Amino acid sequence: VPNNKVKLVEVGPRDGLQNEKKAIPLTTKIELIERLARTGVSTIEAGSFVSPKWVPQMANSSEILEHILQRRLQAPVPMTYSFLAPNTKGLQNAADILRANPQTFSSQLDPQIDSKGEPKPAMEVAVFAAATESFSQKNLNCDIQTSLERFKAVIQDSKALGLRVRAYVSVVLGCPFEGFDVDPHKVAQISTELLEAGADEISLGDTTGMGTAPRTSALLRCMAAAGIRTEDIAMHFHDTYGQALVNTAVSLEHGIRTFDSSVGGLGGCPYSPGATGNVATENMVYFMETLGMDTGIDLDAMSDIGSWITAELGKSNDSTVGKAVLGA
Ligand code: HMG
Ligand code: MG
Repeated sequence: VPNNKVKLVEVGPRDGLQNEKKAIPLTTKIELIERLARTGVSTIEAGSFVSPKWVPQMANSSEILEHILQRRLQAPVPMTYSFLAPNTKGLQNAADILRANPQTFSSQLDPQIDSKGEPKPAMEVAVFAAATESFSQKNLNCDIQTSLERFKAVIQDSKALGLRVRAYVSVVLGCPFEGFDVDPHKVAQISTELLEAGADEISLGDTTGMGTAPRTSALLRCMAAAGIRTEDIAMHFHDTYGQALVNTAVSLEHGIRTFDSSVGGLGGCPYSPGATGNVATENMVYFMETLGMDTGIDLDAMSDIGSWITAELGKSNDSTVGKAVLGA
């Protein structure tokens, strides 16, 4: 793989929408996913099998997964669709739908292609631990060790179904309840446990956007010292303090090539008061292009989607690049 390839994981339909107060119509969510799939992005986080009492906006994730499996969404590249599952109950709900549609997706055990030679999407499960006890309690209603035991069961069951697993660690560079005082060694230790349990990738979440360039660098040095390979790490920046692209540059220098972002800069975590959106995908694509990196994503198409979805939600378009591209 040439060193200038960068993978962007589009988290808009999940991280971007989960915090919206007003129920978003299923048709809008599906249109968003269908349009994103046509931009050249290869992974879309499409929903979340969490408790609807905790995150009501994600309640129709089953219908979204069914739609993805039953309609062949047009996409220029082989696609992976990712869904969060906090426990085996969530995975079970997703697995029931997968079992009912066995020919429509590819697992890690078979190739991403159907009997007619057409590409089939891959499915991915995402678990989400936290680096601090207070965030774990607020987000998952349990302590870190209990959450890790639950995630090990989710990872094991996902692997038995042939599904790729990504594992988030949240609040790695700052916690809404514990401030800057997040121990990078703790992050590395949780990451190691999740990788040893079978996770394919760790996504390090700067949930609050409190990350800075030197602290991002210190965290990644600590991960390397713990023996965690850069190719097993994704960075998940929120742009609350406007530091996401600086932290991205630092991460690139450390060899990271997978980044999470959200079209139109949508987002915010329901259990992270004051956190604004994920770094905008349009800004990431533009930034990568200026560095000679290749995301495979059509910037104009992505900018159109950012403008459309933010208008649809009655929000401002938070992508500076998207607005510039569209002359808005
Ligand atoms: P709990 O209340 O301790 O769970 O919540 P429980 O086992 O006692 O169950 C309570 C009720 O929820 C029961 O229903 C269960 O059946 C049901 P009842 O008997 O009361 O009718 N339930 C479920 N229903 C559907 N799907 C499920 C499920 N599990 C239980 N999977 C729990 C514990 C983990 C469920 C809850 O805390 C939860 O759902 N948390 C999710 C919070 C969340 O989604 N946060 C946002 C995602 S993380 C994030 O955004 C950060 C990230 O972007 C990275 C970053 O930026 O750092 C990833
Ligand atoms: Mg997030």
